[in-house]
Amino acid sequence: MKKIVILISGRGSNMQAVVEANIAQAEVVAVISNRADAAGLQWAEQYGLATETICHQDYAGREAFDTALMARIDAYQPDLVVLAGFMRILTPEFCNHYAGRLINIHPSLLPAFPGLHTHQRALDSGCRVAGCTIHFVTAELDCGPIIAQGVVPVLGNDTADALAQRVLRVEHELLPQAVADFVAGKLVVEGNRVNNLSMADIDDSIFLKN
Ligand code: GAR
Repeated sequence: MKKIVILISGRGSNMQAVVEANIAQAEVVAVISNRADAAGLQWAEQYGLATETICHQDYAGREAFDTALMARIDAYQPDLVVLAGFMRILTPEFCNHYAGRLINIHPSLLPAFPGLHTHQRALDSGCRVAGCTIHFVTAELDCGPIIAQGVVPVLGNDTADALAQRVLRVEHELLPQAVADFVAGKLVVEGNRVNNLSMADIDDSIFLKN
């Protein structure tokens, strides 16, 4: 059984998708938030999961917070740490400590639009498609090896909120699948590329549709 710790900062709908997927040979051992008012924490508690809040404002700086966060995470001895809407920039020490077992979901088709306000930036840039990316986390923000990407169309009358909703539905499918692939040992990192041994069928279906 692989142990998973999920970090959130807010709503937690991606965390919920992972938990409800009941991934074989995987157990979500804790949900940790940097904000006590994160709605996802309540959901996780009601579901019966271990939850913790480690408020970044209680620490003198980024290093001190990340050190404390690492200590709390490591108490669960996780095989995988999932950033599911965890809205903190992490120190290189944190990223290196979890190298190869830390993944993030980001609401854009990386390497386009790292950082914040991704949907508005996609609209402002005239993109015809948008989407989300799941990647291994490295010290450089939103830059690690890409595990999976989901694509949606940008429609003529889109607002950032409408586009975010469309992308979020794809996020909820993609993240549990990526976690399942990790747990099943199907993700092989080669340099900056991830060889996903379960992706061949998906790639075929995309090409066939087009
Ligand atoms: C998701 O859209 C996720 O991709 C994004 O925050 C949202 C969290 O929603 N993550 C980032 O922007 C990370 N830079 P959720 O709390 O309902 O899962």
